[in-house]
Amino acid sequence: MTKIFVTRNIPDSGIKLLKARRGLQLSIYTQDQAIPRPELLKQVRGCDVLLPLLTDKIDAQVMDAAGPKLKMIANYAVGFDNIDLEAAKERGIMVTNAAGPEISESVAEHTIALIFALAHRIVETDAWTRKGKYRGWGPKMFLGCDLKGKTLGIIGGGAIGTTIARRLKDGFDVKIVYTDIKRNPVLEAQGAKFLKQNQLLRQADFVSLHVPLLPSTHHLISTKELKLMKKSAFLINTARGAVVDELALVKALIKGDLAGAGLDVYECEPLIDCNPNDTYELRKLPNVVLTPHTASATIEARQAMSITAAKNILAFLDGKTPPNAVKI
Ligand code: GLV
Repeated sequence: MTKIFVTRNIPDSGIKLLKARRGLQLSIYTQDQAIPRPELLKQVRGCDVLLPLLTDKIDAQVMDAAGPKLKMIANYAVGFDNIDLEAAKERGIMVTNAAGPEISESVAEHTIALIFALAHRIVETDAWTRKGKYRGWGPKMFLGCDLKGKTLGIIGGGAIGTTIARRLKDGFDVKIVYTDIKRNPVLEAQGAKFLKQNQLLRQADFVSLHVPLLPSTHHLISTKELKLMKKSAFLINTARGAVVDELALVKALIKGDLAGAGLDVYECEPLIDCNPNDTYELRKLPNVVLTPHTASATIEARQAMSITAAKNILAFLDGKTPPNAVKI
């Protein structure tokens, strides 16, 4: 009997696939909260496959608590920074993520929503209007900017960046520049221009981050990089909080080194501010749009992620390389 432990009640599409396979014993933590660490350490005992969420830290302690039968970790997320890959490699454990076209679409649309919200000052003016402050139309009231003709700088030209580029270039005549550790011919065939990161930061009106969180991308955007950006530019982060030095960002926003930011992820998540005194500077800033790590929160994306995780598991159990194997 192959034991699979799922750390939260994920959408049922993938669970049904797993239940349909004979010889699998599925156990699911069904409370509507992230599984507490002691419970995780207890529940993983003796499992062959673990299906965790991005909120579960899967380190050597968890792997050892599971024991030697643990052979696969099928993460229910695109990112895999919650998993200690070195520890997995040492123990011969396969790691997969849940990337796919549906989640790319969802994150791309959310990123574009943040871009529009900033350019047209949607959140700020909504709050103002609700407060009953609208007394009459004015020619210079809440001026924002059009997207047409502006430059979007994509840092990390993978599937999500490519989807955003296509939508904004074709739909809104946005110029696309991008940077990555390797060039992406698909993105370039769509008309995106490859630049070095510093050139991109200088040229872009909107800078959007789409890199995984790795030691090499930790604080990829800090004081120096923020200074390179135009004062009229906006930073959008739907990747991982720690790709941005959040304290440096707050300082730059207060100083006016950039015009604003759209954030879906936070360095000390679920805290919104890494500020040691928890003074919630980000929340106080009017030129910042904040969402609670919901860029992939569409029914389509979350169901597809469930199917992807299940298909990865089934492929692995069939002795094949899972489609979303993470290179370690
Ligand atoms: C969400 O942030 C994910 O990595 O899937």
